[in-house]
Amino acid sequence: MTSAYTTIDALEAPAEVYPPQEDSSLLIDAMVTAGVVPGARVADLCTGSGVVAIAAASAGAASVTAFDICPKAVSRTRQEALAAGVEIDVHRGSWARAIEFGPFDVVLANPPYVPEAPVDDSGLISPAAGPSRAWDAGPDGRMVLDPLCAAAPLLLEEGGTLLIVHSECSGVTRTLSALRAQGMRAEVAAQQLIPFGPVMTARAPWLKRAGLLGRHATQERIVVVRADAP
Ligand SMILES: C[S@@+](CC[C@H](N)C(=O)[O-])C[C@H]1O[C@@H](n2cnc3c(N)ncnc32)[C@H](O)[C@@H]1O
Repeated sequence: MTSAYTTIDALEAPAEVYPPQEDSSLLIDAMVTAGVVPGARVADLCTGSGVVAIAAASAGAASVTAFDICPKAVSRTRQEALAAGVEIDVHRGSWARAIEFGPFDVVLANPPYVPEAPVDDSGLISPAAGPSRAWDAGPDGRMVLDPLCAAAPLLLEEGGTLLIVHSECSGVTRTLSALRAQGMRAEVAAQQLIPFGPVMTARAPWLKRAGLLGRHATQERIVVVRADAP
């Protein structure tokens, strides 16, 4: 069950930072359900508005370290953390910088994961959806997912837990296989069918032609993959 946020379809103003959406909520709910955060050193790798990092801090993390390449996301996360009365160490830069600060007990990620269409469809997508760097992830949607799976053993403490949310369109089996290939236990911990938002609405015809989405799909399945380090 997801809980906290309004959907993107309800938003109209241009968003400079990715507004919390169903994937944010699903990741937060999976994090709470996993019960691994209280007392843990947590990293939130693609923090955006900081909603996941703040949820981790509120759930009793010992520390939360957040990363985003976008300076506006870094400022927003700092403001939101202050308003929420929680402490988060926010860094501007790639998620890969977390390796310098780790290892962590818990790593959370809602990375860009939407496959990029070969034609420019930016005019079709409402600016309320947030900046394209928040979702565009190369032709197969794995521009961040593949290196992130490869880096998981470097990011995680022994016995640590990784939770990543992404779409069915970006290869759930590939994520599971990449993590298991490194000796981690990996499974789908949560999933949800959601209506197409502005990006998927614009891209669905191409995703279907490319075989990345079922021909008759009218909704998108998003999943949280959980991996545990040995
Ligand atoms: C889908 S949004 C997720 C935001 C937030 N965690 C949430 O769940 O609502 C992805 C975020 O990743 C950031 N991002 C994109 N590429 C990145 C990278 N290589 N390293 C760190 N952050 C990145 C974007 O700026 C964006 O804020």
